[in-house]
Amino acid sequence: MINGGTGVCALIGDPVAHTLSPFIHNSLSECEGINSVYTAFRVRRGDTGTALKGAFALGIRGFNVTVPHKEDVIPFLCELDPDAKGIGAVNTLCLTDKGYKGYNTDVSGFIREIRECGFDIRGERVIMLGAGGAANAVLYALYSLGAEGVYILNRSVQKAEEKFGSDKRNRILPLDGFEEIEEEGYFCVQCTSAGLFPDTGTVPIEDESFYRKIDRAVDIIYNPYETEFMKRVKRNGGRAVNGLDMLLFQAVESFKLFHDTLVSEESIATVRERLKERVYGRQ
Ligand code: ATR
Repeated sequence: MINGGTGVCALIGDPVAHTLSPFIHNSLSECEGINSVYTAFRVRRGDTGTALKGAFALGIRGFNVTVPHKEDVIPFLCELDPDAKGIGAVNTLCLTDKGYKGYNTDVSGFIREIRECGFDIRGERVIMLGAGGAANAVLYALYSLGAEGVYILNRSVQKAEEKFGSDKRNRILPLDGFEEIEEEGYFCVQCTSAGLFPDTGTVPIEDESFYRKIDRAVDIIYNPYETEFMKRVKRNGGRAVNGLDMLLFQAVESFKLFHDTLVSEESIATVRERLKERVYGRQ
């Protein structure tokens, strides 16, 4: 029941109409018995400073931040968490008495998904497909998880070089350059938008011999439930998971920061089931 004590949190971005964040956060509040509502505000490029000033005056407790504001909001924050600073992008803002502090729970969400899957990449060279917006947090998380180096395969080599070429641990290759990756048994994270609904038949790499190199994989896409990329990894004997838990865990990590609370495993399991029903319909 909304009352005078109800806290407010929201997503800011443009566009925001199709976001699942309100669904996830309001479900978590209900399960955890937290008096808070979560909505979404469309904030145009250039308006983030004004929006945050007003939000601070209103005492809005926290925000998630999405495209195009993950970087441009940083100058308006009073403090940055070290992970957010390392990546140069935020997805979570929390109210403090001086202003908003920025965090990046895309990183912690991805790390939690990898750990819960039991994937251990310490000391390994791993593969990342893609160099778009999602790749920044994923790459940072891969090194936080102890990867020794990352092969970054992208359609546009130049774009990947510009973004990630200065770190000598990275090796940038075109998508068909996978033949230079020796041996097998690799962990791979799929961060391109190839295969995203409704283009469900698309894969970033067609050649079946690529998939023989992979024994563990995460596709950060969560719709469809099983992407063509995941199907091919499995067909060649590997294990593959989708990005639904990354979405859920980044929200859980933000929720914990907003409300300075823990979230029970039972609540997470309930919200995961609701989210699956929402995204995929009744199975
Ligand atoms: P952003 O995430 O920055 O908005 P995007 O256009 O959604 O960017 O693309 C995300 C990633 O998917 C990029 O690495 C993109 O490759 P380019 O950098 O070469 O554009 C990749 N991508 C999108 N469609 C693809 C496809 N059909 N095959 C392979 N890679 C693709």
